[in-house]
Amino acid sequence: MKKIELLRSVSLFWDLEEEELGYISEKMIARHYENGNYIFLEDSEGEQCFFVVEGSVKVTRLSKDGKEVILAMLNAGDFFGEMSLLDGRSRSANVIALEKTEVLTLDREDFLIVLHDYPQISIQLMKEMAGRLRKSDRQIASLSLSDAEKRIALCIIRFADEQGIIKNGRVSIPKTPIQQDIANMAGTSRETVSRALSILEKEEIIERHGRELMILDYKKFIKEFDS
Ligand code: CMP
Repeated sequence: MKKIELLRSVSLFWDLEEEELGYISEKMIARHYENGNYIFLEDSEGEQCFFVVEGSVKVTRLSKDGKEVILAMLNAGDFFGEMSLLDGRSRSANVIALEKTEVLTLDREDFLIVLHDYPQISIQLMKEMAGRLRKSDRQIASLSLSDAEKRIALCIIRFADEQGIIKNGRVSIPKTPIQQDIANMAGTSRETVSRALSILEKEEIIERHGRELMILDYKKFIKEFDS
């Protein structure tokens, strides 16, 4: 697929005219990663901003005791690597491909020129960063909860926000992360995630079909776990 067509899938650029998209896409380079590939490491120098056009990635840091903490999972249409380009500091986290992933990259200088020349992109970027801060705030608040099951349920609500498809009051999450990654997001063990999901399934609160997780009554789920 041509770069301009790939770029259309990135929400930051939705407002742009064809000609503008063409101009920006010319400055971008396409890169591919396989499941488990490190795209970059925490503390390395930031040179590019990345736009996910296919696949998904996780944003991680290591805790003091060496455990992986997942800060976010990003899907097609999302971007990452903007922070170190904006503040001139090193990468704030590792970014790792969760599956076969295709990205477009934009060098620091071109990224800053695009933000300067297209204020609507800067505003979209700030909106997205505000959304990320809200999610992080919610995650920090949930980590103080003693109940691991509740933290896992809040992760499920986050996946539903990010990739859920509504079907008759049910919400389908087509690509649920693997149990170890959910555990690393919720600050618990894989065994606890496995147990909590089995209980939710037994109680007919969720259904699972391969990687798809279906929340059967989303309103009720939110009321029970996010209030
Ligand atoms: P940067 O610091 O350049 O490199 C790591 C990237 O991970 C960072 O830019 C952001 O794009 C992304 N990132 C860091 N923290 C979060 C978060 N809490 N939610 C979503 N993305 C994040």
